[in-house]
Amino acid sequence: MTEKKLRVKWQACLNKYGLIEFSVGLLWFAVSSLILVWPRLSELDWTAALALVIFNGVFLFLMLSYVLGGSSRSQLPTKRVLILLAIASCLVMLISGHVSRFNPFYTPITAGALIFSIVYNNRISCSIYLSMYLSFILSLKSANPFFYFTVFAANSLFTIQRAGRLAERNSLASSSLLSALGSIVTLCLLYLIYNWFDLARIYLDASAILIASIISVVAVIGLLPYLEDIFLIVTPTKLLELASPNSTLLKRLSMEAPGTYHHSLIVANLAEAATEAIGGNALLARVGAYYHDIGKIKRPLFFIENQSSFNNPHDQLNPRMSSMIIMAHTKEGVELGREYRLPRAILNIIEQHHGNSLMSYFLRTFQEANAKAPESEKTAVNEDDFRYSGPKPQTREAAVIMLADSCEAAVRSLEKPTPSKINTMVGRIIKEKMDSGQLEDSALTFQEITRIRGSFQHTINNMFHNRIKYNDKSAN
Ligand SMILES: [Fe+2]
Ligand SMILES: [Fe+2]
Repeated sequence: MTEKKLRVKWQACLNKYGLIEFSVGLLWFAVSSLILVWPRLSELDWTAALALVIFNGVFLFLMLSYVLGGSSRSQLPTKRVLILLAIASCLVMLISGHVSRFNPFYTPITAGALIFSIVYNNRISCSIYLSMYLSFILSLKSANPFFYFTVFAANSLFTIQRAGRLAERNSLASSSLLSALGSIVTLCLLYLIYNWFDLARIYLDASAILIASIISVVAVIGLLPYLEDIFLIVTPTKLLELASPNSTLLKRLSMEAPGTYHHSLIVANLAEAATEAIGGNALLARVGAYYHDIGKIKRPLFFIENQSSFNNPHDQLNPRMSSMIIMAHTKEGVELGREYRLPRAILNIIEQHHGNSLMSYFLRTFQEANAKAPESEKTAVNEDDFRYSGPKPQTREAAVIMLADSCEAAVRSLEKPTPSKINTMVGRIIKEKMDSGQLEDSALTFQEITRIRGSFQHTINNMFHNRIKYNDKSAN
């Protein structure tokens, strides 16, 4: 390969991943290589150094290409998250370098696994990859790599399996204690398999595992509020904080765009129940729905739910201008969310909740006005001018919010809603979204879509049923 080609490839890589990602990768590489050869650093000759570079380089590359990859931009870790992952991994490796002389099981591998599961609560396989890489590197320098790798890997897998989605303070604590227990059982089994059963040795190793797990969980729980704020990661505690009606942005929404606030509460009820039905992150769906239309704060009166019956500013605007104003609420929502330091998962929902759907009402109005206009004033109709800029929902939670949003708006427009009218409308809206390809990046299956439809129909019918009963009572 010529030098020019290499330079072009290097530039393409830089453009794709960026300088920070490269620096973080390099730091990772340096620390993990150092850990591998630390006790014998002075004896390292150039062949051993070359072998180390190739060996560690290949494994790190395989791990990073998976962790940095993803089917879409929103699945890529942000620079902040990447820095957090690198700091956490390097710290675990460095601490391990120090404590290994007493007992390698003092390594806080649980802390690494906990942070990976908090960061990657939607992609459990990424947490597993990262933990396996750490376990692999940490065990290689020991006299019996397979033995240590198995215990480290068991510890990480137990932690990730339990901490996976929840990552609440209590579940973090219970998951790390369970992982300590799992690792101790694995340790005993390995001692039995190898016929080394020695109670004193097991006691020492088991205590080291327990102490490391307890210190890990205390450290992670103590650092969590800072991690949430500095690295903008989303945890249930952060979500509960954002869900409070007293949060500044929600308060602004309720004061400045009360119609949108009310709409968001209903969308949240629909989305939470439907996400629960498909086993997704229901709390993320609820909070995402609260904030999905936050961009409407900028120009609330341009949105139907905030208009009084005799004042519609769109009457004075041409349809193209109207559609531009309405479309802008997703981008403006993201900007406002950034200003208020919302986590990336919520910003993604705000950005994706309309996908690249077509605003058919304004397109039709524009086409009709264009058809009536004199020949000299006619303009070309470009359908893409009436489309949201996307991207399409990239997660199941974002897709459920898109569907809940559209169904809520459609059902609100029904005159004298009856259960059969509601069920037909919900079915129609979901089918339209599927047919226009809005759900294709969201990983929702047909079975899950059926469950979502059932959940929406159930929730909406219940809402109307209660409203009718309430009205009857008040009439009496
Ligand atoms: Fe919206
Ligand atoms: Fe909405």
